[in-house]
Amino acid sequence: MARARSRYVCSECGYETVKWLGKCPSCGCFGTINEEPVAVKSRGTGLSSQVMPQRLNEITTQTEDRTLTGLKELDRVLGGGLVSGSLTLVGGYPGIGKSTLLLQICQRLGEQGKKILYISGEESPRQIKMRADRLKIHTDMLKLLSETNMTAIENAINHEAADYVIIDSIQTVYMEEVTSAPGSVTQIREATSRLMHICKGRGISVIIVGHVTKDGSIAGPRVLEHMVDTVLYFEGDKTASYRLLRAVKNRFGGTNEIGVFEMTGEGLKEILNPSAYMLNDRPTDVSGTVVTCTLEGTRPLLIEIQSLVSFTSFNMPRRMSTGMDFNRVTILIAVLEKRAGLQLGSYDTYVNITGGMRITEPSLDAAVAAAIASSYRDMPIPADTVIFGEIGLTGELRAVSMAEKRVSEAARLGFKHCIIPRANLRDNFSIKGVKITGVSNVSELLYALQ
Ligand code: TYD
Ligand code: MG
Repeated sequence: MARARSRYVCSECGYETVKWLGKCPSCGCFGTINEEPVAVKSRGTGLSSQVMPQRLNEITTQTEDRTLTGLKELDRVLGGGLVSGSLTLVGGYPGIGKSTLLLQICQRLGEQGKKILYISGEESPRQIKMRADRLKIHTDMLKLLSETNMTAIENAINHEAADYVIIDSIQTVYMEEVTSAPGSVTQIREATSRLMHICKGRGISVIIVGHVTKDGSIAGPRVLEHMVDTVLYFEGDKTASYRLLRAVKNRFGGTNEIGVFEMTGEGLKEILNPSAYMLNDRPTDVSGTVVTCTLEGTRPLLIEIQSLVSFTSFNMPRRMSTGMDFNRVTILIAVLEKRAGLQLGSYDTYVNITGGMRITEPSLDAAVAAAIASSYRDMPIPADTVIFGEIGLTGELRAVSMAEKRVSEAARLGFKHCIIPRANLRDNFSIKGVKITGVSNVSELLYALQ
């Protein structure tokens, strides 16, 4: 008889080892490795006659059956609505608005005659009802259940024959067969795999909520990413009211699309024109502020960059950045010193992307350099100017992708002048009402601003 075997699994990150360890080599946590029995699987009998490979051209296809959720921003991120029979994961920090978002889509789904089962392990039906009242959700098609046991959840799904099932959240669900604690990686993985079978076997769309753990590691939801069809992350700054919904995986559409929402007293509202929203309350006629156009997926987004350069009598000037990589700012300061002759050595330099946005795209460089130079010289940049371009170490402005799209977005919001890398002029485009200036290095960029 085969010996009963066990393995050791880290409850934080899912790392597996054959012997117990005090510290997890993968995530570095102490005391998180627990023993788990390994179920001995019976060997299959090999390939049955029914399981035969199919010729690609003989497989018939049909377009997916999609349902609109009523939130345009969410539909865009999903690639045109929820696909029936798909498994979707919505991740994000606790309190960011995941439950609110999912409750809000129930109204529109219900109006289209879809039966929805909302299973919450965190809130009682009364709490959800109170929230639904505030969000003006009153559909008859929505049923609520407060449950955390996977077997009971499966029975409820079978009994209700719902079209859509929402599990809020996967961290609270547990399976009796699995010995580890609810919320551990093994529990989450097993429960999701059960939900996947339910979803694929019966054509039910399942939406799973997954909390991102507090220290920023996405250990919980991360281990599920490969199992589900679509992974959406809900991001945002606690202090700002806007929220970004980002698709990081989508088997039915493009990834890297974003949806923008605002958290209000009546729930999440879509922001259909995020550029205008981001540029609200922008100061004009002061030095150190400039507008740039970044790309979020394929969507251009205008944002304001601010910089403050002030004299310091300390030997070590301070450099700080909010919303962009600090090292990038240090490099840009060095490039400005060496290639454009700015004496920033005795000046503190602060850079800020307004609205709590975090941007990693290099096309930001030119705008950051322009903002620093503007503050240093105390010369405002005209308010109708948009600047973008990547800056290299020799001070050259490098081409960025989709320049035309960025200039069009600037034109749409009434900007009159775009300063862009000269290499992008090769695309040979012109946008009505916008003057386009091509520059090839930082000195030319600063000259164009004088
Ligand atoms: P919630 O959806 O419960 O977050 P999650 O499920 O991701 O943990 O959102 C909770 C936060 O949203 C809470 O701090 C209150 C706020 N909120 C509003 O500002 N307006 C509203 O209409 C609702 C329902 C919530
Ligand atoms: Mg919640």
